[in-house]
Amino acid sequence: MTIELSQAIQALAPSATMAMGNAAAELRAAGQSVIDFSMGEPDFDTPAHIQQAALTALREGQTHYTPAAGIMKLRAAVADAYTQAHGIPCEASQVVISCGAKHALHNAFTVLLNDGDEVLIPAPYWVSYAEQVKLARATPVIVSTKESENFKLSAEQLDAACTNKTRLLVLCSPSNPTGTVYAREQLTAIAEVVQRRKLTVISDEIYEYLVYPGHEFHSFATVAPGLEDQTVIVNGVSKSFAMTGWRIGWTIAPKNVSAGIAKLQSQETSNPSSISQFAALAAIEGSKDCVKDMVAEFTRRKDYVAERLNALPNVSHGEMGGAFYAFFNVRNYFGKSFRGQTVKNSQDFCLELLRQQNVATVSGAAFGADGFVRASFAASMENLREGYDRLARFLASAE
Ligand SMILES: Cc1ncc(COP(=O)(O)O)c(C=O)c1O
Repeated sequence: MTIELSQAIQALAPSATMAMGNAAAELRAAGQSVIDFSMGEPDFDTPAHIQQAALTALREGQTHYTPAAGIMKLRAAVADAYTQAHGIPCEASQVVISCGAKHALHNAFTVLLNDGDEVLIPAPYWVSYAEQVKLARATPVIVSTKESENFKLSAEQLDAACTNKTRLLVLCSPSNPTGTVYAREQLTAIAEVVQRRKLTVISDEIYEYLVYPGHEFHSFATVAPGLEDQTVIVNGVSKSFAMTGWRIGWTIAPKNVSAGIAKLQSQETSNPSSISQFAALAAIEGSKDCVKDMVAEFTRRKDYVAERLNALPNVSHGEMGGAFYAFFNVRNYFGKSFRGQTVKNSQDFCLELLRQQNVATVSGAAFGADGFVRASFAASMENLREGYDRLARFLASAE
């Protein structure tokens, strides 16, 4: 007898970014020299003072359950940091600490959605939003944005996509996969529709600190008075502090929503790792020099990647204002043959690039934008040089 999986799990798509990362790891294990641009994680070690805080917590016996919503010191530190950075009051009771931002998003969707509610997701979108919405038995409604508008959702597009079932809008700035960063006035225009239509916004701000010169981060809740009552902010330490494996993220939400999330977490996962929470506390309370150093290095790499992309024939790319991804248009290569293999879409493109040049990237189709490829630049300069040399050779072989 085969045990049957639930309909929800049968309908769930696996994470495309993780699948590509696994394919690259398998090739590497088989002895191939693979350049992996598929994964969304900093290639730096977690800063030493954060590691030290974890060791201290461990030695001091902080190895027990904590409150399900996280240790009070960390919730308060997140709330204080938010108030200091963004100028609107935030209390510890509005913060729930979860097992990474992905878990925080899942909590928010589960707590807010009912069967059949519609959730507006601008495309290109991060891979997990639509799948998590479906797990919450709601309906993802994809709103495509344009490359010529740097993949930004306009207020008019938002207004036109609303129906009487629309409950939530998901925003991600800086964006994974496009790297686009919304300007304040663009967010204010969106906020007007959100307030008039009484929507709730899930604002994924995980790349808050990874913003490059010429661009500025704005937390969505701050762009219009009263917006904090309609916003659930998702953030965490994974990207900014090179702490992907520690699994600490959080939501900042109105108190009743946070109480709902804390209740859910108390029945599902209990607290995130106690030791990781103490490490995250050191990250938030400690010096931000480590973040500045990482941003400086990412800026150098971004400039290098932009230069290489500009030199590739028939490839265009967006503004790369934040996060650590290049998102480039390869549509001009569709219908061309690469060593006898015809590439029809971005999935084919990425597969042949991996097979023929051992460079792992992720197809735009995984982000709701066929025609594009996402390549992380959270990789060493040496790997970036070699990877873009290989990409150039691959494109030059097109017939
Ligand atoms: C936009 C976005 N949100 C959320 C996450 C999840 O972050 P975490 O690793 O903290 O779960 C990621 C990670 O790739 C991301 O890119």
